[in-house]
Amino acid sequence: NCSLNTTTNHLRHVESMAVLPSGAGKIPRLNAVILGEALASEEDDLVFPSDDFARQALLPSAQKYLEMYKRSVEDPAGFWSDIASQFLWKSKWGDTVCSENFDIRNGNVYVQWFKGGITNICYNCLDRNVDSGNGDKIAFHWEGNERGFHDSLTYTQLLSQVCQVANYLRDIGVKKGDAVVIYLPMLMELPIAMLACARIGAVHSVVFAGFSADSLAQRIMDCKPKVVLTCNAVKRGSKVIHLKDIVDAALSESAKNGISVDACLTYENRSAMMRETTKWQDGRDIWWQDVVPTYSTICEVEWVDAEDPLFLLYTSGSTGKPKGVLHTTGGYMVYTATTFKYAFDYKPSDIYWCTADCGWITGHSYVTYGPLLNGATVVIYEGAPNYPDPGRCWDIVDKFKVTIFYTAPTLYVTRYSRKSLRVLGSVGEPINPSAWRWFFNVVGDSRCPISDTWWQTETGGFMIAPLPGAWPQKPGSATFPFFGVQPVIVDEKGVEIEGECSGYLCVKSSWPGTFRTLYGDHERYETTYFKPFPGYYFSGDGCSRDKDGYYWLTGRVDDVINVSGHRIGTAEVESALVSHPQCAEAAVVGVEHEVKGQGIYAFVTLVDGIPYSEELRRNLITTVRNQIGPFAAPDRIHWAPGLPKTRSGKIMRRILRKIASRQLDELGDTSTLADPGVVDQLIALADC
Ligand code: WTA
Repeated sequence: NCSLNTTTNHLRHVESMAVLPSGAGKIPRLNAVILGEALASEEDDLVFPSDDFARQALLPSAQKYLEMYKRSVEDPAGFWSDIASQFLWKSKWGDTVCSENFDIRNGNVYVQWFKGGITNICYNCLDRNVDSGNGDKIAFHWEGNERGFHDSLTYTQLLSQVCQVANYLRDIGVKKGDAVVIYLPMLMELPIAMLACARIGAVHSVVFAGFSADSLAQRIMDCKPKVVLTCNAVKRGSKVIHLKDIVDAALSESAKNGISVDACLTYENRSAMMRETTKWQDGRDIWWQDVVPTYSTICEVEWVDAEDPLFLLYTSGSTGKPKGVLHTTGGYMVYTATTFKYAFDYKPSDIYWCTADCGWITGHSYVTYGPLLNGATVVIYEGAPNYPDPGRCWDIVDKFKVTIFYTAPTLYVTRYSRKSLRVLGSVGEPINPSAWRWFFNVVGDSRCPISDTWWQTETGGFMIAPLPGAWPQKPGSATFPFFGVQPVIVDEKGVEIEGECSGYLCVKSSWPGTFRTLYGDHERYETTYFKPFPGYYFSGDGCSRDKDGYYWLTGRVDDVINVSGHRIGTAEVESALVSHPQCAEAAVVGVEHEVKGQGIYAFVTLVDGIPYSEELRRNLITTVRNQIGPFAAPDRIHWAPGLPKTRSGKIMRRILRKIASRQLDELGDTSTLADPGVVDQLIALADC
């Protein structure tokens, strides 16, 4: 049942914005007055789209957005069917476009979109574009870690390469519904592998190639793939990382636990390592270059139901092991394509670069599927953004004449012209107003709107994001919800709060890109996301809404932290730390970090009689690197002879967060602690 109640709060506010004349800009004062008193008082915070931009924008006015948004929530079936019809379906979905139960009080939660519709997302990304005359358009520009290494593929060439991998996978017995693990860096082979899986209906599970062998093994054991796709090594900055060794260790770990993988297709990445020096297990390991090119460049697609799984992507939660977020085909396809088009004001002449790795959701939805579904030209960069120097990113922008640049707000600076840029995007963490202004003024020459996109692995695509050109922006606000998304802010009791407020960000009713379950654990899906605030999907984020209806994300309210756009559960870091034989207990919190957004701050208590030392500190950090991956290494270890606990033994993280950020005058009430003395002790040890 998708019929929805439209009179959400932000709509009323947007209605008041709808009088904004299309394309009006440049004279904020005038516009602020036109917008009415509410906005006039905040005129200094508003950044209007320029006349030039608004004139050419896909959505040139708040009025237009409002019309479309209204329809998207009043008639979601009609709204999304019209959009979905632009894709190729072997046969159309049934009469029920969407069926869902988003309210746990009414029984099990489920979501279905376009059920009965038969399609294939790889076909829609590639064959559809080739068939419509865009075969010679560049699909991917690839830039290597080292300057001077680059390559590109047209849509026709990409299709051929995808077909060869798909034929190989089919030949070794991978069938519709089988899992395939992909552990590759940002070579073109990574999206090629994803698309090849999609073509034959296999379910890809990409594991970010910065994860350790232990983390990879854990994921392999959970989804039991027929085959793992990897490469022998990669250069990241000036370092060579031996990915194949990591895969070998993960596969033997899985085998010990009874999960054996038959095949490991290994790409020989010659810029990093030659095959002769790569460790090899005959019978299991196969060189990509030896087999894939021998297959036909034509591969029949496997037509699948809209609700057949497309991929699994593991993500961190506040407790327990990583969760396998499951996305299905039809709704995800329609949603990523539509969000990409509108949030970036995409035009066929654009050159688009998203700096995310395909190991994260951003690389799934906005490196691979969303852009290719729109027939876009996408830049892929293998290396680190600051290698060999901080100007590298802007080199790449200039080299490929990038017009849309989508990144996490943790990159820096200047030197290059960046004249080609027209839209900027930001994701992964709240962007503070001064960083916003820097991005806007310096990177975008005050010309380019910023699409600050709020979303999650679970949501599949953008949820709250500016539609550039449609309305004035406020630095630091993700602005308004995307079509079909009904955000709700609730208090601790789960009661919806209206108007200007702050609280927990939830969503009422599904959107096509919603994840459908956690792989193998539907109960955990319901408990984590639908039980905290019955009636809603709970995002885990805090949020406020100002009097003009703009949404402001304030960060996670659970024990999840975002480090340079990498989502990490504090519980995972803690369990890695306590696996060290000398560590008795650990409590991890996030702290503000100038470069990474958030840093990892770990309090550790040691086993009785073990002295704290520099060597132990380093060993603890190494333990985390080995068990999760280098990106999860704590920035700070704080030796704690005792941790602040309540009398019932619960660690009071609120106090630890204050100590970690040195807000010592904001410790609050410590009288309920079992031993209030530990707080002073921790403070005394803070700078050791
Ligand atoms: C955070 C990444 C503020 C948020 C796409 C969310 C943001 C988590 C924004 C999801 C944004 C993402 N402003 N915070 N524009 N975008 N976040 O699953 O805390 O890796 O819950 O997906 O990132 O991280 P994930």
